[in-house]
Amino acid sequence: MTPAPSAGGLDPQLLRRATTRFAERFGPEPRPRVAVSPGRVNLIGEHTDYNEGFVLPMAIGKVAVVVFRPRSDRILRGHSVAFDETREVSIDSLQTPGGNDWLAYVAGVVWAFASEGLAVCGADLVVDGDVPIGAGLSSSAALEMATARALSAAAGTAWDPVRMARIGQKAENRYVGMNCGIMDQFASAMCEEGKALLLDCRSLETVPVPVPERAAVVVMDTGARRALAASAYNDRRAACERALARFATLEPGVRALRDVTPELLERGRSRLDPTDYRRASHVVPENRRPVEMAKALSSGDLALAGRLMNDSHFSLRDLYEVSCEELDLVTAIARAHPSCFGARMTGAGFGGSAVALVRTEAVPAFCDAVLSAYKAKIDLPAALYPCRPVAGARLLE
Ligand code: GLA
Repeated sequence: MTPAPSAGGLDPQLLRRATTRFAERFGPEPRPRVAVSPGRVNLIGEHTDYNEGFVLPMAIGKVAVVVFRPRSDRILRGHSVAFDETREVSIDSLQTPGGNDWLAYVAGVVWAFASEGLAVCGADLVVDGDVPIGAGLSSSAALEMATARALSAAAGTAWDPVRMARIGQKAENRYVGMNCGIMDQFASAMCEEGKALLLDCRSLETVPVPVPERAAVVVMDTGARRALAASAYNDRRAACERALARFATLEPGVRALRDVTPELLERGRSRLDPTDYRRASHVVPENRRPVEMAKALSSGDLALAGRLMNDSHFSLRDLYEVSCEELDLVTAIARAHPSCFGARMTGAGFGGSAVALVRTEAVPAFCDAVLSAYKAKIDLPAALYPCRPVAGARLLE
């Protein structure tokens, strides 16, 4: 069994498909422009972003593509290649909540631009991409950021990635109704080639973290998809907010779970509902791991980086309870491979993907072994992608 092609760069066939489709639907002239924005894999720091903590994502070479041409009216006419569907909306009739189909991610960004007082114009656009949907690799943030890149160019607004990440998050929170944090949009907008991004989700300060050449990041898509992931995600957020309210009564300076020390966690235990305590017991130590992992990667201590990933997985499995059989299985198989430093689920959880740190020279053997052992037990369309970190949202032409 062979792994899926490496997610290292933009697939030229994808680009050709999207631009050809644009010419078929909307005509070839005047020549449209193209914006792309990548999906991401989070190396560590899971469910910490909305607790104002640290995360360490990197952008991968799987992208959302938006081919676009401004219109002189206020109509947004979109075509999705994946759904083979063309729809149009009037910019001035957009209202929240706006649904959660493919067009909502595009229209949501247009709505968020307008709500922030930024210029918007009508456009014809084709939406395409190769970030697998529902795989925990942020296909939605990639689409939002590609749309934002396109929209800024179409309306002549300067590209400010931090502002755009916030706008993408606002679109998803308010228009789509998913209460996500800032990590995915930020990674998709801001990442640098060759580097993961240590992000402080409170200050939005970033530190680029080089991923050593001798370590490869392998994304392992379990093929499992969970229908109720959005509501389970929103439940976890609510548990964090309840826990925070209790800790704040003990220490008035506590503004987010990020401020809770291990000592305060124990002091507050008896005041918390046991489930909320378990959730907080994941967040407090998890919030230290991205900083430790960034140090481990920078100093080349890959054994430590791997241990941190394993610890993160066990915490997400046992305390935050967002893992599942498929994620536990694929990470256990990966960890048992002699070339693997560590493995963990990535993204929100409840299905989707895991990530492993692997000796670069052993990647093909690792992928073969893991995929066949996993498929021997689970009959789902799993896929493995060795990834190098790529740059964030950009205009191609
Ligand atoms: C999803 C959300 C992110 C983050 C992760 C969990 O990907 O969109 O904001 O909360 O889950 O770390």
